[in-house]
Amino acid sequence: MKKTVEVSAPGKLMLFGEHAVVYDRPCIVIAVNQRLTVRTSFYPGNKIIIDAPNVGIVGYETEISRLGKGNNIPKGVRFIEIAVANFFDLYKVSSGLKIETRSDFSSEFGFGSSSAVTVGTVTSLFRLFQIDCSKKDIFDLCFETVFSIQGLGSGFDIASAIWGGALYFVNRGKKIEPLKIKKLPLLVGYTGVKADTAPLVNKVASLRERNPKIVDSMFDTIKDIVEDARVCLEKQDLKGLGELMNLNQGLLDSLGVGSDKLSCMINAARESGAYGAKLSGAGGGDCMIALAPSGKKQNVESAMKVAGGFPVNIKFEPEGVKIVNL
Ligand code: MEV
Repeated sequence: MKKTVEVSAPGKLMLFGEHAVVYDRPCIVIAVNQRLTVRTSFYPGNKIIIDAPNVGIVGYETEISRLGKGNNIPKGVRFIEIAVANFFDLYKVSSGLKIETRSDFSSEFGFGSSSAVTVGTVTSLFRLFQIDCSKKDIFDLCFETVFSIQGLGSGFDIASAIWGGALYFVNRGKKIEPLKIKKLPLLVGYTGVKADTAPLVNKVASLRERNPKIVDSMFDTIKDIVEDARVCLEKQDLKGLGELMNLNQGLLDSLGVGSDKLSCMINAARESGAYGAKLSGAGGGDCMIALAPSGKKQNVESAMKVAGGFPVNIKFEPEGVKIVNL
C-alpha cells in the first residue's frame, strides 16, 4: 500500500456563461496552467495534520472523531477537513493523515483554489486507500463538500480541476463535455480587488426574484451565446468569440455584477485591439479576460495596466487532476 500520494489539480477561468449556469444554463470553462498540489500521507495516531503554508496554516491538527465538527475550522483548511470527513464517511475508512498543500497561484485571483484543493484532497484519498473511482465519483464527492461549505455554486470549477482542458458544463455536473480546442490567445488581467462570490450570486438571485421574466430571458440569451461560443471555439473563430465575449459582458453588466474597474480594463482591452473582453467568474473584481490577435498582445496588456489592472501570465491547461508521484 502506498504511504504517500501527491496529486496536482489546475486552476480555472470561466470563459462564458457565469451566473446563468447556476440556473441550469450551460457555461464554458477552461483549466489554466497554475496548479495546486496536495501531498497526503498515512500518519501514525488518530489525527489529521494539515500544512497549507500558502494560506498561512502550518501544523493544524484535528482528531478524527472531531473531523468537520468544529465551529471555527480556519477557512484555509475547511475544504480539506470536510473532504476527508466526507470521504471517511462514504467509504467507511479511517486513518491518521498528514496533508500538505502548495499552490502556484494566489487564492486572491479567483482561479478556484478551494475547488482545486478539494479535488486534490479527494483524488489523493482515493489513491491512498486504493479505492477505484471514476471522474464522476470524484466530482460528486467534491461537489457535496464544496456545496456543504458554500451553500451555493454550480460546480463548474470542480469539473475543470478534474477534467482540465475546456469544458461545456451544466449546473451540478448534469452535463460535462470536453471541448476540442488547440490554442486560445487569452490575456488575463487582475483588478486588484478580491471578489466575494456569495453576495454576487445572491444579488443576481434577488434581481431575478423581482424580474423573473426579464432575468430568465437574459439567462436564455447567455445560453445562446454559450452555444455559439462552443462552435466558434471548436472552429478557432477568434473574431466570433471576441464578439460573443462582448455580448456576454453586456448581459453581465445588466445583471449588476460588473464594476468600474472591470469596465475600465475591459474597455481598454477592446480599444487597444482585442477581439473582445469580459469579466470572468462572479464579477465585482477578480479577473477580466481578453482575446487578442498575437500582434496586439503587448498593446492590450499595456492598456490593461494603464487602466489599473495587473496582467497575469497564464495559459490554457489541457491536463486535469493527476497523480504526480507514481
Ligand atoms: C463564479 O465563479 C461563477 C458563478 O457562476 C457561480 C458558479 O457557477 O458557481 C457566479
